Amino acid sequence: MGKFYITTPIYYPSDNLHIGHAYTTVVADALARYHRLLGEEVFFLTGTDEHGQKIQRRAAEVGKEPQEFVDGIVANIKALWKLLKISNDDFIRTTEPRHTKRVQQIFQRLYDQGDIYKSEYEGLYCTPCEAFWLERQLVDGKCPDCGREVEKVREESYFFRLSKYADRLMAHIEAHPEFIQPVSRKNEMVNNFLRPGLEDLCISRTTFSWGIPVPFDPKHVIYVWLDALTNYITALGYPDQVGEGSVFARFWPAELHLVGKEIVRFHTIIWPIILMALDLPLPKQVFGHGWLVLDGGKMSKSKGNVVDPVILVEKYGLDAIRYYLLREVAFGADGVYSEEALVLRINTDLANDLGNLLHRTLSMVEKFADGVVPAPGANGPLEEALQAEADRTREAMKEHMAKLEVSDALSAIFQLIGRANKYIDEAAPWSLNKSGNRERLGTVLYTMVETIRICAVLLTPYLVDTPVRIFAQLGLDTDPTALGLAAGGKWGLYPAGTRVQKGDPLFPRIDWEKEQAEAEEEGEGVKTAAPPSAEKTEAVPGKPEITIDEFAKVDLRVATVLAAEKVEGADKLLRLQVRIGGEERQIVAGIAKYYSPQELVGKEIVVVANLKPVKLRGVLSQGMILAAGDGETLAVIRPEKEVGDGTEVR
Ligand code: MSP
Repeated sequence: MGKFYITTPIYYPSDNLHIGHAYTTVVADALARYHRLLGEEVFFLTGTDEHGQKIQRRAAEVGKEPQEFVDGIVANIKALWKLLKISNDDFIRTTEPRHTKRVQQIFQRLYDQGDIYKSEYEGLYCTPCEAFWLERQLVDGKCPDCGREVEKVREESYFFRLSKYADRLMAHIEAHPEFIQPVSRKNEMVNNFLRPGLEDLCISRTTFSWGIPVPFDPKHVIYVWLDALTNYITALGYPDQVGEGSVFARFWPAELHLVGKEIVRFHTIIWPIILMALDLPLPKQVFGHGWLVLDGGKMSKSKGNVVDPVILVEKYGLDAIRYYLLREVAFGADGVYSEEALVLRINTDLANDLGNLLHRTLSMVEKFADGVVPAPGANGPLEEALQAEADRTREAMKEHMAKLEVSDALSAIFQLIGRANKYIDEAAPWSLNKSGNRERLGTVLYTMVETIRICAVLLTPYLVDTPVRIFAQLGLDTDPTALGLAAGGKWGLYPAGTRVQKGDPLFPRIDWEKEQAEAEEEGEGVKTAAPPSAEKTEAVPGKPEITIDEFAKVDLRVATVLAAEKVEGADKLLRLQVRIGGEERQIVAGIAKYYSPQELVGKEIVVVANLKPVKLRGVLSQGMILAAGDGETLAVIRPEKEVGDGTEVR
């Protein structure tokens, strides 16, 4: 039997988590459930990253001891995962003795073998990111990841010999193209970090105390990222429980570390080198997904624009939220969260397509067959086609899930649902009932019910309550996951002669306009986020005169292109990953006919930085690049000499 070890990042318990964090965990949960459905032995790990200066400061701000502070937030995080029915097999807290003692053992081993040495650190530190930086890496003197102020630190520290392993890491990345995904993130790591050369890493601090003490020099606490990254092996028992039959022996190396794009660097440079130094195999893949952003940019507590998943689940139900998170955004890219888009998904896909399919099918079984599903007679061409479609859907789902295209997998299942609705219209059971063609009517009703049963099985990795509710309404008292994907998804398992149990609609429709009006009346001040429009306005020669103040509203900035790739299914579009000062963004541009993706990487270009984000072919675009063209030719506008990204263009 195959095995699948999947992890989420361990979350900072500095605040309650928001919908962006829930997004990572729900995707990991869907993947874990999917691999269980394949019959693999799955280990799904999540947890909390509880040490470090940031947490110590947050605790002090609210007048609590760090441990007491994190205990409260960790309880909320665990409750959130329970609410979202996350199926993790373990939850590791970095303050647990099983972890702290193992981190110390790892540190000791690396020190004993000469990979850690003592020296003095003088440099820069970003506390929100818990990251060390060199002067040359700063952007406008600020942290290149989050754009916030960095602090000068000078202290005696232990260092880890990252540089010693740089060549080995580079060779591994080259030999294993699947190791860092998507490929744009791999290019970024290689070009921005590995090629310029790795410095040894400072891995201890003496100016605060909230961390795991260095075992032989306890005035030092171990750098929080070294502490955190090792959770992926300490939770399995490394280094003291690694013998035959141990969890570690069974599950290491991980098949997949899912992480957000801003922490890919830690997972693909520092983490593999730690593992190399420990002589352990590397994880098979690190996948860096995009962010769920709001209209105004990334969600953050300090901006006061976070979306609370608990409130959403209370309002719309768990499966609606899971569905939205898994379906709305192509996994990997950034996506805009909007409540209106969520409601649209509920009303169209869940209520209209899925809910209606079940409802009308059961109504017809009640009306035409006294509520008992008849045995099928001989199949006609319509049934053959639908069965073939069900088989194809299962295969398409597998292909997409193997590539982590979770949204596409769901889209394939909903195509089958759409196909089943169409089948009902084509097979017209009401006419068969009228004409008294009982045998054909039996075949059609059975086919309708069986297609729904198969859809319910296929949906089990993504939706957790709905497949069970569908099975119950179909009169089945079995667990939809019980037979797994191959056997459970096979045609013909529904036992004819079963009495159906029509129940409440799966997803009641939501009247968005009414909800908005009510919320406004109640003074909630809900902003109606209009769906982002992908329409472009035509350039008209001789536009009306504007004042300098009007022009000044346009924020033109120099941006560096970090990575570029074609947008699947759109010949004209390139997706560019750009850096504008401290901030990274994704911009979709209609330049694929004129530029190959590689041509622009590393170059400075000019972008409109304050344009409202839009979705082009479903991909989020957070700005626009400037280019001159007449339809025949096109040239991207670039500064005449390098000026540094983030620089204003006037
Ligand atoms: N503690 C570190 C991870 C250590 S792993 C050894 C950390 N924690 S975090 O709480 O700040 O972030 C955890 C994860 O949540 C990251 O992968 C991050 O990308 C993800 N997200 C936080 N906000 C998000 C969105 N708005 N959208 C999508 N993912 C988001 O980093």
